[in-house]
Amino acid sequence: MDDDQAIARAAAALRAGRLVILPTETVYGLAADASNARAVAAVYEAKGRPAFNPLIAHVADLATAQRIARFDERALRLAKRFWPGPLTLVLPVADPAAVCDLARAGLDTVAVRAPGHPMAHTLLEAFGGPLVAPSANRSGRPSPTRFLDAIEETGEAAEAALDGGDCRIGLESTVVALLDEPRLLRPGAVIRGEIELLVGPLADADLDAQRSPGRLTRHYAPNLPVRLNALTPLRREAFLAFGTSPPRDHVWNLSPSGDLAEAAANLFAYLRAADRSGAAGIAVAPIPDEGLGEAINDRLRRAAGFVG
Ligand code: TXA
Ligand code: MG
Repeated sequence: MDDDQAIARAAAALRAGRLVILPTETVYGLAADASNARAVAAVYEAKGRPAFNPLIAHVADLATAQRIARFDERALRLAKRFWPGPLTLVLPVADPAAVCDLARAGLDTVAVRAPGHPMAHTLLEAFGGPLVAPSANRSGRPSPTRFLDAIEETGEAAEAALDGGDCRIGLESTVVALLDEPRLLRPGAVIRGEIELLVGPLADADLDAQRSPGRLTRHYAPNLPVRLNALTPLRREAFLAFGTSPPRDHVWNLSPSGDLAEAAANLFAYLRAADRSGAAGIAVAPIPDEGLGEAINDRLRRAAGFVG
């Protein structure tokens, strides 16, 4: 079956209210028709996700997004600069039926993003409306960045699965709320500095954590305990290194050259590999907290069970 046929089948499955594993440039998603409450309920069930944690509506383009959400000047500026791509905007809802109450967790706001992966884009155009697509992991686990990891996590619940290769970015989209002052709800693939250039300083989510209920303790977590800012591993620990590291067993180097984009792309896949290695725990080298490092460290703190 070629890609076009696979996409046509996936679109038909979505129209019938079924779930589809979908590649994006950030992580794999588990997609459903955003307007179909039964399909959306099946997504929450497949992930074991609490229904008070709202989902992102994925769209093919800005025009579709503007039917769902109300864009002010700032939102337009960000969408025009970063879409299609790894930025999610939380905005006042315009059409509450297009993204059902359950998908929005009953809020009068909606999260929207136009993904950059060509397969995701083609599927969205073929389907013709918004798709919710949370990361395809079971709730609390690391997001899948490779096709087989997605299948392992939630493949059983999906009617179809599209193989788009390894995710280029490997970290989820940045989530920015534009309700009052611009607020960074989740650091991600688009870094803070690039957004602040267009909309000014971003307030933190901490004060308002309930607005991004995805921010729970031990999120993105492997089974083994995770120890951060480790200079060397203890005896039975696996080690995620960054920069130069001595070659030895149970070491995965996120980026030998110290490149944050490379480290982001490897992060979840290496956490999974270390988790399967038979070690007693996972130690992780310090990662610089600049640029993409903000999002990497956010995911690592959650993997270790510290809420940021
Ligand atoms: O990169 C991504 O965004 C991936 C790919 C598959 O597109 N999707 C993803 O979805 O990470 P999910 O469901 O795992 O994360 C959605 C985040 C959660 O932290 C959720 O709380 C937040 O977006 N969110 C969604 N709707 C919201 C709303 N109305 N207000 C505040 N936060 C919202
Ligand atoms: Mg997720």
